[in-house]
Amino acid sequence: MIKVNAKGHLEIGGIDAVDLAEEFGTPLYCIDEDILRKNIEEYKDGFKQIDIDIAYAGKAFLTLAMCQIIMEEGLSLDVVSGGELYTAIKAGFNLKKVYFHGNNKSVSELTMAVENGVGRIVVDNFHELGLLEDILEKHNTKQDILLRLSPGIEAHTHSYISTGQLDSKFGFGINDGSAIKAIKTALMSKRLNLTGIHAHIGSQIFALESYSEEVNVLCSFLRMVKAETGWSAKELDIGGGLGIKYNGQDEPPAISEYAQVIIDSFKRSVDEFQIKIPRLIIEPGRSIIGNAGYTLYTVGSIKDIPGIRKYVSVDGGMADNPRTALYGAKYHAVLANKADREAVEMVSIAGKCCESGDMLIWDINLPEIEPGDILAVFSTGAYNYSMSSNYNRLPRPAVVLVRDGNAKIIVKRETYEDIIRNDIMI
Ligand code: LLP
Repeated sequence: MIKVNAKGHLEIGGIDAVDLAEEFGTPLYCIDEDILRKNIEEYKDGFKQIDIDIAYAGKAFLTLAMCQIIMEEGLSLDVVSGGELYTAIKAGFNLKKVYFHGNNKSVSELTMAVENGVGRIVVDNFHELGLLEDILEKHNTKQDILLRLSPGIEAHTHSYISTGQLDSKFGFGINDGSAIKAIKTALMSKRLNLTGIHAHIGSQIFALESYSEEVNVLCSFLRMVKAETGWSAKELDIGGGLGIKYNGQDEPPAISEYAQVIIDSFKRSVDEFQIKIPRLIIEPGRSIIGNAGYTLYTVGSIKDIPGIRKYVSVDGGMADNPRTALYGAKYHAVLANKADREAVEMVSIAGKCCESGDMLIWDINLPEIEPGDILAVFSTGAYNYSMSSNYNRLPRPAVVLVRDGNAKIIVKRETYEDIIRNDIMI
């Protein structure tokens, strides 16, 4: 439900969105802290009846302030690169609560993780098993690890963001025998302490039965492993992926429904396969931060091609939100300064980058629109700032955290000076 104030303006976190645009400039990422914390609460509440570790997936959106919030809420953190790990270190995050993912971690990233005492490294492949073993040998230390498995499951989402199927770059295949081989390799190592297994089947998932299937496949695999090696997993990490609502057509399950499906299938599978109950780990990203985010833009040029299309250009685009161009994502938006008015025309929202693919929204009904209007695009909290670029040398927007009528900048707007900071003249 959107909030509209007496002026007919959209309100975000108790602040008039037009005032936010005026004070901080556009494009502007806004994060509604109440929504963010409410999502986290829903996760904690949904899973309160079982022993679970909820690890926020930082790839969706990670900054120092975000680390602080995640820490304050007592969640763990999933990082996927040296850069995300560095952010967590700088924010003073408890690194024991960090899971380090990735299908091609470098020696320096793995070394950084080992030296900083990262809680779990989620090992993806045999190459990494070897690298890590060498690093641990050199450091004369041990490391808790999970093994990332590829369970061979169809997640019913966009193919670019579906990860659990057999034909995937991620993880040890359960069906081709590499998973059991990886487990035996890890169990033989004096340096690696195998605490459990991990899988992630994809992102923006609405089909909850994919999760039941995943849990079932993983538990069945654990039974086979127990029979063959005697080893029982202490931890079962089932990844993230719950979808969110981007537009009127989307009907994602509630976090509580997702939790119930996981809990039920977990109990059922543990029973069916008679395995020792492992601690469950989940890694939600999008469903924690996605709907807490809004992007504000100022409308500029408008090109009407009669009978064909009206292009409304805004002062951002694929550099701050590449998801439409990349995945055909469908966003919803309103005019923040005319949030109380009826929609009268269908337009398409274009970015300002020099290519035709730079569109934010194809075909949206909006009130009469003119240059200077403020467009607010919803559900841009996840994979927008984190996937932003300086394409066309556009400075990245600022990020403000809003709550109870107060706005705090948590990421400064980039300047032109930032744009050239690493350039060297010849
Ligand atoms: N865990 C692992 C191992 C992952 O690979 C991911 C996402 C997550 C957790 C979090 O998934 P979430 O709950 O956020 O769906 N850039 C794409 C999404 C890529 C997701 C990659 N992995 C997008 O904008 O839709």
